[in-house]
Amino acid sequence: PVLVVDFGAQYAQLIARRVREAGVFSELVPHTITAAEVREKNPLGIVLSGGPSSVYEEGAPQFDDSIFDLGVPTLGICYGFQVMARALGGEVANTGDREYGATDALVVGDGGAILGGQPETQNVWMSHGDAVQRAPEGFDVLARTAVTPVAAFGSLERRLYGVQWHPEVRHSDHGQQVLENFLHTVAGIDPDWNAGNVIAEQVELIRKQVGSARVISALSGGVDSAVSTALVHEAIGDQLTAVFVDHGLLRQGEREQVEQDYVASTGVRLITVDAEETFLGHLEGVTDPEEKRKIIGREFIRAFEQVQRQLVDEAKAEGEPIKFLVQGTLYPDVVESGGGSGTANIKSHHNVGGLPEDMKFELVEPLRDLFKDEVRAIGRELGLPEAIVGRQPFPGPGLGIRIVGEVTKNRLETLRAADAIARAELTAAGLDAEIWQCPVVLLADVRSVGVQGDGRTYGHPVVLRPVSSEDAMTADWTRVPYDVLARISNKITNQVPEVNRVVLDVTSKPPGTIEWE
Ligand code: XMP
Repeated sequence: PVLVVDFGAQYAQLIARRVREAGVFSELVPHTITAAEVREKNPLGIVLSGGPSSVYEEGAPQFDDSIFDLGVPTLGICYGFQVMARALGGEVANTGDREYGATDALVVGDGGAILGGQPETQNVWMSHGDAVQRAPEGFDVLARTAVTPVAAFGSLERRLYGVQWHPEVRHSDHGQQVLENFLHTVAGIDPDWNAGNVIAEQVELIRKQVGSARVISALSGGVDSAVSTALVHEAIGDQLTAVFVDHGLLRQGEREQVEQDYVASTGVRLITVDAEETFLGHLEGVTDPEEKRKIIGREFIRAFEQVQRQLVDEAKAEGEPIKFLVQGTLYPDVVESGGGSGTANIKSHHNVGGLPEDMKFELVEPLRDLFKDEVRAIGRELGLPEAIVGRQPFPGPGLGIRIVGEVTKNRLETLRAADAIARAELTAAGLDAEIWQCPVVLLADVRSVGVQGDGRTYGHPVVLRPVSSEDAMTADWTRVPYDVLARISNKITNQVPEVNRVVLDVTSKPPGTIEWE
């Protein structure tokens, strides 16, 4: 693999993703990794991430400098660039000239292996206090800015390169090219990490792990559980049973999508649990968001346990125990729960709405090494319908946390209709790639006066919450074109009688969260 050393900035994961986009498998490792540990992993390359603004800061993350002597091609980025400069005998100083955001970088000389052939002036994304004043001996200066004499350097002989800016950020011109030049040209790594290879490798691992035992999987209708289930099915066929709980909080067409399209494309054996009445019964009179989440999580577990018992009995009769449970855990979940550097922004969302704690299952997690976009690529390769693979993230508690106020069957129908219109229009406008997700929220306790035909109406508003994001940890509201918004608004107010007003949420995250509850 290529090791991405995490100095504690939020950029390390992004770097790991960009490396994979370049067709190269990457793995995040903490900055405390030692030269011996690096050698053991036998990496093809190393990328040092950004971090705090100064290598001189108190408590600045340390690094085992002897790693630079291992002969492994290494690219330092931002803080990693400064760590590299200092370790190799260059000079890093705090000049008081900070650079944040878009900055012009000027290529020096021929730009070397990483910037060669690119425009002389590039707009790049910077975020640093200290600056490299002098490159280490034997290194060529490859770029500068108005205030930073050394904004990139490198040595082809030692295969060590560094840039002060963030090539992993889309705002940096030619950023991906800088990474690819490093990976392919400097480190000489073949771009052979792709969906097909991942599937072949995982199929083998899954078979080895489960043998002839029976396996169950909880499908939520979301991308992660859909793909992990399909992957396991690809590996072991009918040893797998998938369970789908219809809690009545699903979007329009969702159940049919799973029961028909998903089953048709995978051939997986599916059990659907009809639990709408139960869920809505328990949600009666409940308005507090946390309370709703708790009830939905708990009922999900009950429903799941019920089928589980039934399946276990059935399995016993056939003499094969159910030992394994499939989960769609992704790499960011693994990293956030301590698998990576231990940065403290942990989120405990469950892929499938929470599973029984006392379930004695061994987990099968074939997506543990993957990012969301890779999971989608694998889903496509496995032949899953675009409607499932390309769908927006949808929370486990479903529409239950998109109705502000009590959740009732009527309100769910109203929201479902409005949501279906918004989704269809955004898709028709070609905005699916730009929009991470667009919750539609029903303000069930708010009423406003409207007029339709000659009559007064007294209906409810729905909120459109279109957001753009890389990972849902932060998000910005998407600038959906006015004419698309106008079409959504017209259609919803015309076709959904209970709704007489459509409003737009223009809050970023933070301070807002993506969901309203
Ligand atoms: P927030 O609202 O915290 O949402 O900004 C971040 C992302 O997580 C999704 N989300 C959930 N997903 N179970 C889930 O599986 C949950 O309880 C849950 N709550 C929020 C949300 O849709 C967004 O993508």
